[in-house]
Amino acid sequence: MVHIKKLTDLQNTEYGLKKIFEDAEDFLPLLGTDYVELYVGNAKQTAHFYKTAFGFQSEAFAGLETGLKDRVSYVLKQNKIRLVLTSPLIKGGEINRHIETHGDGVKVIALWVDDATKSFEETTKRGAKPYMQPTQEEDENGSVVRSGIYTYGETIHIFVERKNYNGVFLPNYKKWESHYNPEPVGLKFIDHMVGNVGWNEMKKWCEFYNKVMGFAQIISFTDDDVSTDYTALMSKVMSNGNGRVKFPINEPAEGKKKSQIEEYLDFYNGPGVQHIAVATDDIVSTVSEMRDRGVEFLYVPDEYYDDLLDRVGEIDEDVEVLKKHGILIDRDEEGYLLQLFTKTIVDRPTMFFEVIQRKGAQSFGVGNFKALFEAIEREQGLRGTL
Ligand code: FE2
Repeated sequence: MVHIKKLTDLQNTEYGLKKIFEDAEDFLPLLGTDYVELYVGNAKQTAHFYKTAFGFQSEAFAGLETGLKDRVSYVLKQNKIRLVLTSPLIKGGEINRHIETHGDGVKVIALWVDDATKSFEETTKRGAKPYMQPTQEEDENGSVVRSGIYTYGETIHIFVERKNYNGVFLPNYKKWESHYNPEPVGLKFIDHMVGNVGWNEMKKWCEFYNKVMGFAQIISFTDDDVSTDYTALMSKVMSNGNGRVKFPINEPAEGKKKSQIEEYLDFYNGPGVQHIAVATDDIVSTVSEMRDRGVEFLYVPDEYYDDLLDRVGEIDEDVEVLKKHGILIDRDEEGYLLQLFTKTIVDRPTMFFEVIQRKGAQSFGVGNFKALFEAIEREQGLRGTL
């Protein structure tokens, strides 16, 4: 049996979005996501992939040529999205250990703040585990203060205060000049980033975002809402006060067979970032461009579209075009959204991307979870990990 509870039912109860946003404490004002850093086995080649397939632009570089001895970082940008890809240059050390344990994956979700010192103090005094004391770095373009705390697993949040900096990325990075510059595909900003946490840990991490970071819970799904014959999960969505930073948190739930969250936890060897959702203003053109450049998306069966208009009502798009690209649609009280998920984009079945276009809807596509899970289970079946 599949159980999907309509988001509107949740919004009409204690989870009313407006009230929650008003209630969200603002001792940690966040201006947005600053960058996402991945530790990867080969940053140079990974950067080529994100440029070619996702349309990211060469932005900045740090490595042997800039005085670093032990690592290299490539910074890529598309509109407001900044990815930093970091690989070790030496044996041993923290980055190698991270990659051995987790494979390629997200190490840092960096948050843009006005005051990185205060952000560190406010969060650590509420119980955050420190990762990096407030540290000022400078070069001829000014100075940046960064500090950091741990979140789930080995993932960390870095607070970035850059109001006194005019350089390309951070001090001691140089502009990355490249003759190879594929066009952007229309990705605008990070809509949300999802964390998978361990069995019975969702409450703990939602409390962390609430108590330590002043986030509020805006949406909740239980395994009654979101389950197929095989996969079950529970999910809560935490948002900061101005709604710019949203972190859904998933934990596995008991199903007949191994859930996709469990598969992730097995291969990542613990909690971590499951997917990065990136926003576009034109999902049809973004997705068709990404497909042409080699990105693989989850397959959605044609039957999904048979009763689409009955489920979601009037939409601006041509259903045949959406069907051709396998784009999913869901509606809530405020409008609708279109979304599509890539297959996992690293070797281990761990991390993937979501492309999302919001037309009023502020929810996360719970009406699509069944179709999504069944698509993921088809992939799990092929891997023999169901
Ligand atoms: Fe998502």
